[in-house]
Amino acid sequence: MKIIKVKDYKELSETAARLILEKVRANPQLVLGLATGGTPEGMYEQLVTDHRTAGTSYQQITTFNLDEYAGLPREDRNSYYTYMRQQLFDHIDIPEENVHLPNGETEDLQAECRHYEQLIKEAGDVDLQILGIGGNGHIGFNEPGTSFDSVTHVVTLDESTREANARYFSSLDEVPTHAVTMGIQTIMRAKEIVLLVSGESKADAIVRLLTEEANESFPASALLTHPNVTLIVDEEALKKVD
Ligand code: F6R
Repeated sequence: MKIIKVKDYKELSETAARLILEKVRANPQLVLGLATGGTPEGMYEQLVTDHRTAGTSYQQITTFNLDEYAGLPREDRNSYYTYMRQQLFDHIDIPEENVHLPNGETEDLQAECRHYEQLIKEAGDVDLQILGIGGNGHIGFNEPGTSFDSVTHVVTLDESTREANARYFSSLDEVPTHAVTMGIQTIMRAKEIVLLVSGESKADAIVRLLTEEANESFPASALLTHPNVTLIVDEEALKKVD
């Protein structure tokens, strides 16, 4: 795993955006795997500014998001579809048909999982996957204990994950209990992975990532066995590392 240590969140966002832009310019047909949450917001802001000022085009880019809540309408203000439109898609020139998120609203979530996995395979798998990490080591919504062989599946969210995400909802009760997520195997098939980690709340997760061997009780540790992972991490998140 290559490690890029940066000073703070601003530098993390700029570094991640620069890396994506290099790849998008080198391969205008890139298949990009995207994450939601607080961590990539600054990176998306940089990409939007670049599109406005330098005109980098996403006309032929395909995106696949890691996950989506189950049971929320796509238009709900807390769906990851809405997040992605607001953070990125509404501000760049990517065609609607090129963006993919799991449909968490469907009656048959199992069929949706199979369909999503198939779409990713048909696209030739993700070229560059952006990831964040949960305090408990989750990647996507793959909570501790998830098999490293897992493909896109329905998950029951950990209470700690629902509590961490409750900041976006009016109350904890409103946070969905289930989600659809790419599996660990799906993520690991990406040709390149960039993991973004910022802030003190991730300091324990960083210690685990840098000291443990790959094990299913800490999902992000799967990345230790991937040949092309870059961790971009700021000083706050590195606080507990000697
Ligand atoms: C989001 C996702 C999650 C987040 C993780 C960290 O699509 O897959 O794994 O990356 O929960 O979230 P933040 O960045 O809000 O700390």
